[in-house]
Amino acid sequence: MRIDIMTLFPDTVNAVLHESIIGRAAKKGIVEINCVQIRDFTENRQNQVDDYPYGGGWGCVMMAQPLKSCLVNIMSTASGLRSRVIYLSPQGQPYTQETAKRLQRDYDHLVLVCGHYEGVDERFIEECVDEEISLGDFVLTGGEIAAMAVADSVCRLVPGVLSDEQCYIGESHWDGLLEYPQYTRPEVWEGRQVPEVLLQGDHAKVSRWRRKQQLQRTRDKRPDLFEKLALTDPEDQKLLAELQREAGRRKLDGELTYRAATEEDLAEILRMVDESRVWLKRHRIDQWQGEYPSAETFRADIALGECFLVCHGEEAAGFFTLSTAEEESYAGITDGKWTEGIACCVLHRAAVAEAYRGSGLSTQLLRFVEQQCRAFGLRCIRTDTHKNNKVMQNLLRDNGYRYRGNLVIAAAADHATARRAYEKILKDKK
Ligand SMILES: C[S@@+](CC[C@H](N)C(=O)[O-])C[C@H]1O[C@@H](n2cnc3c(N)ncnc32)[C@H](O)[C@@H]1O
Repeated sequence: MRIDIMTLFPDTVNAVLHESIIGRAAKKGIVEINCVQIRDFTENRQNQVDDYPYGGGWGCVMMAQPLKSCLVNIMSTASGLRSRVIYLSPQGQPYTQETAKRLQRDYDHLVLVCGHYEGVDERFIEECVDEEISLGDFVLTGGEIAAMAVADSVCRLVPGVLSDEQCYIGESHWDGLLEYPQYTRPEVWEGRQVPEVLLQGDHAKVSRWRRKQQLQRTRDKRPDLFEKLALTDPEDQKLLAELQREAGRRKLDGELTYRAATEEDLAEILRMVDESRVWLKRHRIDQWQGEYPSAETFRADIALGECFLVCHGEEAAGFFTLSTAEEESYAGITDGKWTEGIACCVLHRAAVAEAYRGSGLSTQLLRFVEQQCRAFGLRCIRTDTHKNNKVMQNLLRDNGYRYRGNLVIAAAADHATARRAYEKILKDKK
C-alpha cells in the first residue's frame, strides 16, 4: 500500500506516521507513506497557496492550481497502481472501519488531500477528487489529523503490518460489534479484580464470555450499532436471550459491603430465600423446596453471629451463613477426603436476590465469605451442594473450590440428603 499525503505541514504528518507500528512497517517496505508539500507546486513568486474567496467572506481558500500540479506530480509515479484520490473534508462521508477495509482491499495507492483555512477551491474537488471522507461531524483546522487517521487505520490492515490478522479481527467495529474488555497484570488493582473466568485457562468459557461482553457492550454503549446487527448464529441468539433476561436486573455499580445480619434483616433474608426457592424449582433443583431454611434457622444463625448480609449500597443483595462450628455429617465423607489437619469454617446457607442474578454478585459474595473466614482466623472453607445444583457447583469451581467427595447430610424429611463436598484452602496474602 502506498499513501501520498498532500499537505502544507509534511514534517508534522511525517513525524507521526513514521513512529511505532506504522513507522516500522514503512521501514520494512510493507507500506510506503510520502508526505508531499503542496507549496512546492505553486506557480507564483510568493509561493502563495491560498487566496480570498470570491463573493467575500471570512478567511482564505486553497487555490486549485498548486493542488492539481502536486497531484499530477504524484500520479506521474503511480502508473499501474489502483489509485484513489481522497479529500479529507467535514462534508465527506463519515469514516468507518468498513471504509478502511474497502480502501485497503480495493486500492494499492491512496492520495490524501489535506485542506486548510476555509477549505479548497471547489473546482479542484470536482476535477480531481474521487471521494470525500470526514472524520466526524465536527470541523478541524486542517485535514492532516484526518489523513493520519485514515493512513493509520488502512495501513494496519495491510498484511504483515501487525504480527497476526487476529490482532484486528475481533477488534471493535470489525464485525459491527465493540470489543470485549481487556485486562492485564496485576490481578487486583485498586480493589478491582480481573474477571475470574479469564484466570482459569478454560478457552471455551473465555470465548463465550468475551462474545457475550461484545454483545452487551455494543447494546449498552452503541445502541445505534446494535440495531444494525443481523446476528444469525444460534450461539449469539442464546447469548442475546441471556442478556435480555438479565436486562431487568441490577448492575453492580454501587459500593458492595457485608456485615453481620440482625433480626431486622430477617424479612429481607426470607424474601431472598423465597426468590431462591422459585428459581431452584424452575431449574428442577431439589433444594429449599420445603420448610427449610426457616425464620428459626436464620434466627439461630443471627444469634450466633454467623449470618451475614451482603449490601449493594443500602440494598440487601445477598446473604450467607458461615459457621466455625464443626459440621458433624462432614466426617462421613465418601469417595474422597477433606484436607487433613486444618481448622475450617463451613459455608451453610447462601443466596443472592433475584434482581442480582447474573450480575457477578455471587462471586463477590464468595469473596466476602473468604474475608470473613480470615476474620475468624481460619484459612479453610468447606461447603456442600445438592447433587443436581450444577450452577452452584460451577460457581464454586470457578472460584477455586475443589470437589472433595460425597456426603449424606442429616436433613429434614422434605430435603434431599445426598451432597457433593467442596473445599477451598485460602492462600496467605502477599
Ligand atoms: C476549517 S476546515 C474547512 C471547513 C469548511 N469551510 C466547511 O465548513 O466545510 C479546513 C480543512 O480541514 C479539514 N477538515 C476539517 N474538518 C474535517 C473533518 N471533520 N474531517 C476531515 N477533514 C476535515 C478539511 O481538509 C478542510 O479543508
